[in-house]
Amino acid sequence: MDSGSLVPKRLEGQVAIITGGARGIGEATVRLFVKHGAKVVIADIEDAHGTALAASLSPSATYVHCDVRQEEDVRRLVDTAVSTFGRLDIMFNNAGVLGSQSRDGMSIMEFNPEEFDRTMSVNVKGTALGMKHAARVMVPARRGCIISTSSVAGVMGGMGPHAYTASKHAIVGLTKNASFELGKYGIRVNCISPFGVATSLLINGWREEYDAESKGAPISKEEAEKMEEAVRDMANLKGPTLKAIDIADAALYLASDESRYVSGHNLVVDGGYTASKNAWDFN
Ligand SMILES: NC(=O)c1ccc[n+]([C@@H]2O[C@H](COP(=O)([O-])OP(=O)(O)OC[C@H]3O[C@@H](n4cnc5c(N)ncnc54)[C@H](O)[C@@H]3O)[C@@H](O)[C@H]2O)c1
Repeated sequence: MDSGSLVPKRLEGQVAIITGGARGIGEATVRLFVKHGAKVVIADIEDAHGTALAASLSPSATYVHCDVRQEEDVRRLVDTAVSTFGRLDIMFNNAGVLGSQSRDGMSIMEFNPEEFDRTMSVNVKGTALGMKHAARVMVPARRGCIISTSSVAGVMGGMGPHAYTASKHAIVGLTKNASFELGKYGIRVNCISPFGVATSLLINGWREEYDAESKGAPISKEEAEKMEEAVRDMANLKGPTLKAIDIADAALYLASDESRYVSGHNLVVDGGYTASKNAWDFN
């Protein structure tokens, strides 16, 4: 059972946009927000997945093709949310890419400026554009909530490629700056930093490192389970397996009134990993 189901309809009457909403963490959040009474605009570049997901949740969800790197796409996305559902309460900037994960390209001595630009463009520019256009309609309304997805790679080094790590640290910075600026309008701005979740992003990253041939192929149940096992082995918190729904639950908390005084916060969902990595085990 997801903890979000303990209190029914925590987002009744709210309108949300979720970028990267067609798959993985975004998809889990779309489903949870709809379950809690929200109307959701799914934004992604994976049109087939996004359209099918929206159709399965109709009329509570709709799909908009939006490449978060393109300002016109983001502008249209926000305008579509307002024209379709009448308002925008929650902007979840969740779309992201891992970038090249290959062992050969991992060294700073192999730093690739084009690869850096590609990763920063989706993860940082995309997030900043999402904040900009959400604020455009939230400021006049004097309310709203902006959430973005950072990562444990935005908390400490050594958790991903250089460009990805830089981009996820940048999201934490953007979150703090935007929360400072937008606080006076009653708008809260937070981010979430997940540990490893067995989504296509993580599994394709693993494939690129160890089995380049299979990159982009559909992900099997066995592969996802293997990834979850690898994450469990690395984890600080033993027992639960981190799932996309756990990140969706964190987003639900940050989107709902239960967090009405929380802003500028990075909600780290890592079972204590980054707080205690390399701790001296004195027991
Ligand atoms: N899976 C993890 O272990 C993990 C850990 C920490 C943070 N994250 C972050 O979580 C977020 C969601 O990732 P996920 O794990 O669910 O991966 P995913 O690959 O399942 O989902 C990412 C989604 O973003 C979309 N996307 C990519 N580029 C886009 C663009 N330019 N415009 C619009 N949409 C685009 C993809 O099509 C996909 O649907 C990302 O920001 C990722 O960095 C993931």
